[in-house]
Amino acid sequence: MSMKLIWSLCSCIWLVMAISTLAQTSDDSNAVLDTAGQALQSGVDYYIQPAITDNGGRFTLINRTELCPLYVGQENVSGPKGLPVTFSPFVEGETVVREGRDQKITFSAVTICVQSTTWKVGETDQDTQRRLIGTGEDENQSLPGRARNYFRITKQATPDGVYNLEWCPTEVCPTCRFICGSVGAIVENDKRLLALDGSVLPVVFERA
Ligand SMILES: *[C@@H]1O[C@H](CO)[C@@H](O)[C@H](O)[C@H]1NC(C)=O
Ligand SMILES: *[C@@H]1O[C@H](CO)[C@@H](O)[C@H](O)[C@H]1NC(C)=O
Ligand SMILES: *[C@@H]1O[C@H](CO)[C@@H](O)[C@H](O)[C@H]1NC(C)=O
Repeated sequence: MSMKLIWSLCSCIWLVMAISTLAQTSDDSNAVLDTAGQALQSGVDYYIQPAITDNGGRFTLINRTELCPLYVGQENVSGPKGLPVTFSPFVEGETVVREGRDQKITFSAVTICVQSTTWKVGETDQDTQRRLIGTGEDENQSLPGRARNYFRITKQATPDGVYNLEWCPTEVCPTCRFICGSVGAIVENDKRLLALDGSVLPVVFERA
């Protein structure tokens, strides 16, 4: 009887250990998946595009009223044009892009503007009252840790492989109370710009 109890205790402990070891070694837990079902890797080029057609084309850099700075926008129509991005997770040494984690998103492009091509939550558009997604390093000290440069990817309930982009950098600053927002598109002078605080644009990631 007591031997049996010890035996079942042992096997139970062994099982718990085995499961926790598995959890530690399974690298792709909560990985964001590309259109081929592969985990998104940091530093690798991906195109971001709407999950549904007739919502504009791939993400790209576009200008507004001046040549610079450039904003995050979309091609007008779906097609081969657009610029790929790379992801750079906030957690040091992380090589997989995971759901709900903070990362920088940077267009793999060279521009004539002095600003970097890293995404940044920018100013509020006067007409729509939505915060635009611009580019450049966050040098405004009013938020710690360049928080405006960190975005996260969250999974839509269905279908598989469809995601939303959000700004809510609580990994960068766990004690901050951000006015979080999801990324959607607005049309301004026939140009498609990305912005927080309104309609949300579901996206997919295609390896470049
Ligand atoms: C936007 O950029 C293009 C070149 O890429 C330039 O021809 C155009 O003048 C710019 N628009 C404004 C408003 O500066
Ligand atoms: C989309 O069309 C508008 C109007 O023709 C143009 O100003 C804009 O540059 C186009 N956008 C892109 C990304 O080519
Ligand atoms: C920094 O951000 C605050 C709050 O968003 C804003 O009021 C201020 O104008 C910004 N400063 C600069 C230099 O952009």
